[in-house]
Amino acid sequence: MILPGLFRGSKMDFAITLDQHSTTSLHKQLYDELRQAILTGRLKPGERVPSTRTLSQSLGVSRTTVTQSYEQLLSEGYLRASTGSGTFVGCELPDELLKSKPVETFRAAEMRPDDKRQIELSSYGASITDSAPFEPPEPETPINFKCGRPALEEFPLQQWRRLILKHYRANDHSLLDYADGSQGYEPLREAIVGYLRHARAVTCAADQVVIVNGAQQALDLIAKLLIDRGASVAIEDPGYLGARRVFLAQGAELLPAPVDESGIIVDALTSKTFLKSKGGLKLVYVTPSHQFPTGATLPLPRRLDLLAWAEKTGVMIIEDDYDSEFRYGSRPIPALQGLANGDSVIYFGTFSKVLFPALRVGYLVAPPSLARVFARAKWLADRQTPMIEQRVLADFIKEGHLERHLRRMRTLYDKRRQALVRALETHFGDRVTILGENAGMSLMIRLRGRLDDDEVTRRARLAGVGLVSARHYYLVESRRDEFLLGYAGLSDRRIQEGVRRLAKILK
Ligand SMILES: Cc1ncc(COP(=O)(O)O)c(C=O)c1O
Repeated sequence: MILPGLFRGSKMDFAITLDQHSTTSLHKQLYDELRQAILTGRLKPGERVPSTRTLSQSLGVSRTTVTQSYEQLLSEGYLRASTGSGTFVGCELPDELLKSKPVETFRAAEMRPDDKRQIELSSYGASITDSAPFEPPEPETPINFKCGRPALEEFPLQQWRRLILKHYRANDHSLLDYADGSQGYEPLREAIVGYLRHARAVTCAADQVVIVNGAQQALDLIAKLLIDRGASVAIEDPGYLGARRVFLAQGAELLPAPVDESGIIVDALTSKTFLKSKGGLKLVYVTPSHQFPTGATLPLPRRLDLLAWAEKTGVMIIEDDYDSEFRYGSRPIPALQGLANGDSVIYFGTFSKVLFPALRVGYLVAPPSLARVFARAKWLADRQTPMIEQRVLADFIKEGHLERHLRRMRTLYDKRRQALVRALETHFGDRVTILGENAGMSLMIRLRGRLDDDEVTRRARLAGVGLVSARHYYLVESRRDEFLLGYAGLSDRRIQEGVRRLAKILK
């Protein structure tokens, strides 16, 4: 039975309906109604509430029911009693309201890819809610040929620790403040200019360098500054998913640029598809030192052709030099940035591969005319890269630790690469083709066999070996027999054992 009743407040009356047949007790129902009235402001702080006798009469319930709900509200602080003058709505919110919601509530509210109902996202937001992964799934297996992972246990942690302590011990409180500008710590930018000049033949001044949180942030800032919805971007196919994702999120139309064993096919860029694209071709994204994922190196003549094409068409070249430091045997080819005559290249690199990925420090070299706007975009994104890491890194470079570490890692990765190639040749013979140059931290291979990629990776996982199918990196058409093996973080023994297990399950 429903009991309609009226709450006669000192300022405002409102209806209260209680259900005698509900499984919730009457006093709990009344408690809920009054609490809700307080929270929504129908009952104002400090307002006097009717006596238990008056309210029980107007609601048609027992006085005990009202007393029980008042007592609960009093104990939780929604009401307060003043001896002799009555009961009033509390003036301050009870603590319970200030508590955060249980985690389950947030979990339940999380957006799923196909679920665009609750909150309308921007076109940027909507473009990143689909279910396609940002990176191919990497199973956690005992032997994992993960891509792009340096040998972390070889990092000279004691030097790094010493430099961190040096800065904290100096008691210089300015370290804790916002930086003067967003472009990055000047001594670090100077150190990077010196390093890039001799290692990569990059020509720039420190004013052109913006310190970013890894190469991924460089890509993000580039897309924001140069891409309008509908503009076209030429992107290597196969290519780095993080770049593809950033450009798509910004609303770009992607034009796949084919890649062969020498990297991007520059001649293909002269076709109508590229130059007459609807939104106008704005950028071409390339990884010339070590094409991701094929491992090809763009030879000098193609570099010069690409630069000439960019100058003629006005299309900006985005040069991602993510792991150029690792070349074994042959001399590196100068970066496109250093070969360019004008402002046709935006160059970036990262310490994620050379040192460690959690550092989140990279550098972007902008043409002089764009340096200021990049610094402003960096400010809008996150104001600055953390200062302690920048100062420590500047010292690490100046004291020669970067060069030393690099030399050691080059020798180590070269050895690991050779171990991988030998193991593949021993166990697979002519069933395997090794692609790419003698460079980098991963290897792309073609494996002849009857199984499709998913079956190969599934069987490998069951045997405790993680490897990634190259299919994920293709935009248009992919082969079904290409795989990527990262070797930098694996010992020779694990490399050999991993390949042995692969050969066994793929017999
Ligand atoms: C080709 C390429 N570019 C950029 C990045 C991003 O590097 P960072 O960790 O510095 O953001 C990666 C990371 O694996 C990469 O493979």
